[in-house]
Amino acid sequence: MNTFRTTRSVRVSGSLFSGGGVGDVGVEWGCAIPVLAAAEILPSRAQLIRKNFPATEVFEGDIWELQQEYINFFNKELNGKRPWLITLSPPCQGMSANGAGRISSSIRSGVRPREDERNRLILPGISVLEKLQPDWFILENVRRMQNTIIRNEHDKPENILACLSRRLTPLGYSIRSNVLNFSSYGVPHHRERLITIGCRIPEVLESCPPVGDVFSKQISPFHPVATHGEKNGHAPVSLSDAIGRLPQLDSLGLLQDSKDPYHCIPRWNENQYFWMKHTPEGKSAFDNLSCIQCKHNNEQEESVACEKCGHTLPRPVLLNKGKARLIKGFRTSYRRMRWDSPASTLTMNSGVISSDMKGHPDQNRVLSLREILILSTLDHALWNKKFSFEGIRYGRMKESDNFSIKLIREVIGESIPPLGMAQLVKHLIALEEQL
Ligand SMILES: C[S@@+](CC[C@H](N)C(=O)[O-])C[C@H]1O[C@@H](n2cnc3c(N)ncnc32)[C@H](O)[C@@H]1O
Repeated sequence: MNTFRTTRSVRVSGSLFSGGGVGDVGVEWGCAIPVLAAAEILPSRAQLIRKNFPATEVFEGDIWELQQEYINFFNKELNGKRPWLITLSPPCQGMSANGAGRISSSIRSGVRPREDERNRLILPGISVLEKLQPDWFILENVRRMQNTIIRNEHDKPENILACLSRRLTPLGYSIRSNVLNFSSYGVPHHRERLITIGCRIPEVLESCPPVGDVFSKQISPFHPVATHGEKNGHAPVSLSDAIGRLPQLDSLGLLQDSKDPYHCIPRWNENQYFWMKHTPEGKSAFDNLSCIQCKHNNEQEESVACEKCGHTLPRPVLLNKGKARLIKGFRTSYRRMRWDSPASTLTMNSGVISSDMKGHPDQNRVLSLREILILSTLDHALWNKKFSFEGIRYGRMKESDNFSIKLIREVIGESIPPLGMAQLVKHLIALEEQL
């Protein structure tokens, strides 16, 4: 049984499901709130946190097993006081609107429901919140989490937000959940996330008491008002604003800038290069129905050669028994971004042109690692010169490489943009200052 803790809090934070510590950069260097401890299951990511946060205690392993150690660490370090903030971003690959009916009927018939165990990782997360009772918590996830049903600690189906609310409201929390797009807060890429914030400071709860349904479409008092976008005075930060001045690269001829090892890209094969070379800004190579030889506008959706002159069309094809056919796939793949908008959502596959919207607007390549660092805001004006993100060597790499490109692209693809996190946390600090 968890009881309401009355001890004071200390202005420190901790993260759970910390990834490579990307979101934590916004807390520690964006808001000067030390990240006392992080917890992450993947050794490569845990090692990356250690490199960039030498003062942070990194709990490496499964949170189901580590939760008590994590709690003990805070209690010992803070001498029984409570942390000010805990951030959590359980993995989102498993989130979907799993049918409550299906989970309930499996449980009723005595069968363990088919479920994605990752969705249940919120449960040890909630247990940590129950024990540490930070003044604030920030839970980040994909927007589908709003409708995700899990098997709760009593083996009953329950919506994740309802479970959070049921367990934490009795401990004094008021909780609010909104969908935010970080590009509306100055982040130069689109990233729509469900951000759930809980607070248990009595003075804050006077004006923002607990509510039945924590989700609302309307921006809550716990969430910062958007700063960028049509209604907010500032245009969103475009790709051109963010990376327009970086040196040119080419995915066949120039794979790395001689002055910056992070400004590097993967090589394309000749086919990928041919398809993309003829693809205009904002378009997909699948749209290339106009013949580059005779300029005829082909109309057959599946055409791979010009219907008039027979010349090969620069469209993504596969050769099967000597015959070319259009690659099956989403028409968002082999697509270039646009200079005048924020980048598309950065994913783990930011270096793969066959993935969603990965092409540079007008050079023949994907975005470089440096560009991804800038767009993620990890590189945000190098955080007042106090912090500069560094990669680590990990896994299979060339002897000459100093860091794993794959690891950095992956952790950024799963992260909370540090600038977005800093905006969230600064808002909480401002709310307290108004008291
Ligand atoms: C969405 S990512 C978190 C990203 C992080 N907030 C950031 O900004 O970089 C979720 C992380 O949870 C980790 N994870 C998954 N299962 C876990 C478990 N059982 N225990 C601890 N961490 C786990 C994953 O390896 C992944 O790095």
